[in-house]
Amino acid sequence: MKDAQPGAIYLKDYQAPDYWIDKTELSFDLGENETRVTARLQIRLNQDRHDRQLPPLVLHGNADMTLAEVKVDGVALSADQYTLTSETLTLPVSSDRFETEIVSVLAPQDNTSMEGLYKSGGMYCTQCEAEGFRRITWYLDRPDVMSLFTTRITADKAKYPVLLSNGNCIEQGDTGDGRHTMVWEDPFRKPAYLFALVAGNLAHVEDTFTTQSGRNVTLQIFTESHNITKCDHAMRSLKQSMRWDEEVYGREYDLDIFMIVAVDDFNMGAMENKGLNIFNSSCVLARPDTATDATFQRIEAIVAHEYFHNWSGNRVTCRDWFQLSLKEGFTVFRDSEFSADMNSRTVKRIEDVNHLRSAQFAEDAGPMAHPVRPSSFIEISNFYTLTVYEKGAEIVRMIHNLVGREGFRKGSDLYFERHDGQAVTCEDFVRAMEDANSIDLGQFMRWYTQAGTPVLDVTDSYDADNQRYVLEVTQSCPATPGQDVKEPFHIPLAIGLLSSEGDNLPIGDKGQTTVVLEVREASQQFVFENRIERPLPSLLRGFSAPVKLNYDYSRDDLLFLMRHDDDGFNRWDSCQRLATETILDLVRDIQAAKPLSLDTRLIEAWRELLEDETADKAMVAEMLTLPSEQWLSEQMAVIDVYAIHEAREFVRGELAKSLSEPLQSIYRGLAVEKPYKPESADIAERQLKNICLGYLMELDSPAMLSLAETQFQNATNMTDQMAALSCVINGAHQTAPGKAETLLSAFHDQWKGDANVMDMWLSVQVSGARMGSLERVKQLMEHPVFDYRNPNKLRSLIGVFCMRNLKCFHDLSGEGYAFLADNIIRLDKQNPQIAARMLTPLTRWRRYDDQRGALMKAALERIQANELSKDVFEVVNKSLA
Ligand code: PHE
Ligand code: ZN
Repeated sequence: MKDAQPGAIYLKDYQAPDYWIDKTELSFDLGENETRVTARLQIRLNQDRHDRQLPPLVLHGNADMTLAEVKVDGVALSADQYTLTSETLTLPVSSDRFETEIVSVLAPQDNTSMEGLYKSGGMYCTQCEAEGFRRITWYLDRPDVMSLFTTRITADKAKYPVLLSNGNCIEQGDTGDGRHTMVWEDPFRKPAYLFALVAGNLAHVEDTFTTQSGRNVTLQIFTESHNITKCDHAMRSLKQSMRWDEEVYGREYDLDIFMIVAVDDFNMGAMENKGLNIFNSSCVLARPDTATDATFQRIEAIVAHEYFHNWSGNRVTCRDWFQLSLKEGFTVFRDSEFSADMNSRTVKRIEDVNHLRSAQFAEDAGPMAHPVRPSSFIEISNFYTLTVYEKGAEIVRMIHNLVGREGFRKGSDLYFERHDGQAVTCEDFVRAMEDANSIDLGQFMRWYTQAGTPVLDVTDSYDADNQRYVLEVTQSCPATPGQDVKEPFHIPLAIGLLSSEGDNLPIGDKGQTTVVLEVREASQQFVFENRIERPLPSLLRGFSAPVKLNYDYSRDDLLFLMRHDDDGFNRWDSCQRLATETILDLVRDIQAAKPLSLDTRLIEAWRELLEDETADKAMVAEMLTLPSEQWLSEQMAVIDVYAIHEAREFVRGELAKSLSEPLQSIYRGLAVEKPYKPESADIAERQLKNICLGYLMELDSPAMLSLAETQFQNATNMTDQMAALSCVINGAHQTAPGKAETLLSAFHDQWKGDANVMDMWLSVQVSGARMGSLERVKQLMEHPVFDYRNPNKLRSLIGVFCMRNLKCFHDLSGEGYAFLADNIIRLDKQNPQIAARMLTPLTRWRRYDDQRGALMKAALERIQANELSKDVFEVVNKSLA
């Protein structure tokens, strides 16, 4: 797009800026054809870098803006006095303090990239992280330049009655010509990526929160008026987050007002702009009849995440974008602990780990693998990854495990106190943890700098004569791009030991049944004395480190751990291992063209789960969920898409046949009408009920189908309605062809006016192999509810098909790959960030058989032959390298 060959930027080249910007005064004149932005900047030389010389001022910009005027200290510059390129504006400097005034002219109505200032529906909004502010005005658009912002917004009063920016509103009034103005002032210095502006015809709900020191904060959530009934859950989540951050971290909110705005067109989930969070509407709007339990929980987590950024991200920000995980890893850790406190801790952990292991491990094993703190990038937008977010959160969790709850609080207090108002690095965070706890995390820092998923190989031996049990732990880490050899990691390995009776034995010095072993060497032994019998180890309890753990458990060992392990996470994990091994055995049978039969131990284990009336329903639901095709794919050296799909479907069918009675009895017991509450006990009941219904659909029986139909028709909440629809779509329905179509069209007629519900309607019909053909995807792209410009629609339809419907996407014809390539090429011109993200499935081409690999590679090469954005250029080139 811009450069012929975009180049990489390196962490090692970091230098502090030549200049600081003390004050930023912005004035936006919003118009239908053009928007004028006047930026007055008070600029000061960075004396630490330059004491005598005055280097020219190089501001970041973008070719989509027009430069209308530049003044330095009130004097207009002529075109020969400055240098303008597609990415920079260079101004001459003659004093160590001066003021610039720059007028840029923008066309937000034509901005489809959803970076900078753009229009969503009828409203104006902004997205500046990471480098979107330079699409609004020329600026030092880097997070270590922090400035005090004042923002004046002028717009048509009838069309845009609401005008918002960061901080407090200090002035408002009419300008006479049907237009009006509001001025906002943010009292906190901030980097430009936290700037936000919203203008539109919006309704809002309002509430208040009293902080621990007794200050009153106004809370507002803005949406288009037809969605105003969907804000209550987000408001409740916000207040809970504010309370939790005071109680758990001692962090209080710092402005008089906190605003959230819902927009339909957004590249990500949400954005933590100071005092004015902007949310993808799918991550904030919910009503029991329109949103599923999963959505309710996602909203709670994202509202918390963005709120928590006010301290971990905004008050203390990143020095440069290589440090992204400083704010994201820490904030994900914070929001996951919040969710654990609000709901079931074990279930939250299972969900997080499941996601990490199936998606982040795949990233770590692919061509885009990078350390949690990358050392170079071409386009920073490509580094908002599972590695930076989720693995980054695991690093923070490991520190938490190493220093304990109180030690961690001391460390976070010190971090916030030391660095409030600063732009800092991952080392600064770790140093605060070290200093507060007098420990050395030097070796631990490798988690930030080495990519790849470490592997722990564990063996054990028992010496009956000396009553000694020994665990032998060996660690290794596969090579990743640019890193052939890895140094040993410092790995907290939480373990327990079980007796043959199923007792969790005391092993710690205070009789604890769980201890944390600190693995630091490539190979290390841990000795347990006075063991009267050979114990069975329960390893990596609570998933104490983001590693792959190998230990040669027999299937009977796994069944034993499923019953007796007192670590809930490991009970689930044993169940997953059992199911994974069983399915992978069947995959080998399919490949060898052998007849299939299911290991009856799996059936009996499932039966035990279903029949245990005292069991925690949430745990049973998690355990009954078979490992995903994504996760199973990760376990194979060469991914056999069809065999994985067939084996997993076979297991589902066999389980349903053998367990039809207990499945039905649980289903009927839970299918009782009660008022909807998005609380964990109720969520668990609905989840278990709907999992049972899903299995029952495998029976292809009219009686079972009518259970689902009845549930669909009588549902008073979206969780049950959507689950019923999904069960019918993804179930076997030879006996009732056309049923799925009938329900889909009823659902469409009921919800066609609700954009977020229609996203789910698109996804549900293309996510499974029984219905979700490529043909259907193409048809739906022509459907009136689909909108090619809207990222949610693209993700729900094309994204879901390519990332979740593995059997159809990876059809041997290669049509799925060609389809994705065509769309990447088209989309790159419109929205490069989304295009680069949607490319992910093709990047994994080396993991497949030769035929698929070649087809995927050809699709990548076809993309590569185009003029590309930096975003897509980087992903395509790294994938083919
Ligand atoms: N910083 C946002 C978050 O994690 C994510 C985001 C990144 C949103 C870039 C928009 C653009 O909360
Ligand atoms: Zn974040």
